[in-house]
Amino acid sequence: MNIPKEDNKTLEQERLAKLVRQRLGNLRQFGVTHLPRSTGQFVLGTSDPIPSIDSAAPAAGEVIAPTSESSTSEEVRGLQSGNQERGLRNAGHREGEVAALTGEVSAKNGSPLKVEAYPESMEISGRRRELDILSRQVSECQKCDELARCRTQTVFGVGNPGARLCFIGEGPGADEDRQGEPFVGAAGQLLNKIITASKMRREDVYILNTVKCRPPGNRNPSDQELENCWPFAVRQLEIMQPEFICCLGSVAARKLLNTKSSIGRLRQNFHQYRGSRVLVTYHPAYLLRNPSAKKPVWDDMKMLMQAMGI
Ligand code: URA
Repeated sequence: MNIPKEDNKTLEQERLAKLVRQRLGNLRQFGVTHLPRSTGQFVLGTSDPIPSIDSAAPAAGEVIAPTSESSTSEEVRGLQSGNQERGLRNAGHREGEVAALTGEVSAKNGSPLKVEAYPESMEISGRRRELDILSRQVSECQKCDELARCRTQTVFGVGNPGARLCFIGEGPGADEDRQGEPFVGAAGQLLNKIITASKMRREDVYILNTVKCRPPGNRNPSDQELENCWPFAVRQLEIMQPEFICCLGSVAARKLLNTKSSIGRLRQNFHQYRGSRVLVTYHPAYLLRNPSAKKPVWDDMKMLMQAMGI
């Protein structure tokens, strides 16, 4: 078909405009509100309630996560003026914790490591479709010999694909393996109470696990099993792009944030995973064994509710 030259130009302009909008959206997810240019500043959507970088001294508890375990020694290279980085450092954050905000860090050897933003988000119907496809792939997975042999079924995830908040647990237990749904046993009952106390409903959020098959005898998933299964969780998050992620326990937190830090060190701060703000708290199963941990979990949930405007 012969497309008139003028129309071709318009199509190209539209394509470029779409690319630019997508890129700006990605940058905004990392908190970048202004970009330098030769004269003046380019403001991303002045009506957006994002604080200008110049005035962005962080509120207490406002932390940006390390993108890798080595990031404490990584040098931050801001995409912007650096005021926000300074603000975060002044607030006592390690350099690596600042890195994800700027979207770019450099390793010791100086080579830039990109913090990958989410791709363009999908409509809810598209998310459902993609999650269904992924769920079928998960159900056929045979990567972990022992887990594939011992499982009754895979446990993909449950909830609202348009959820603002995703909870990530560790892996299915016996009840979940039987029912094919995460967090339906004793820990799940407690998680339900935590969700309700936080003025949300289970059906509003999305719940998934780091691994999709029950490790026999309720052992922790091995490093290899985590490695094999993690791409499924990454894809789930990429499809849903939740505003908030709450890691339940150290297995999820360590995998998501690529850190070896303890829950005690990670909790009470917001971290960053791609475009999502991440809060870490104790696993409900840990609370069942250690009721004194309920208070810190409630403190974490209050922080999350406040950030979510609940
Ligand atoms: N613990 C988890 O981490 N996930 C579940 O689904 C159940 C218990």
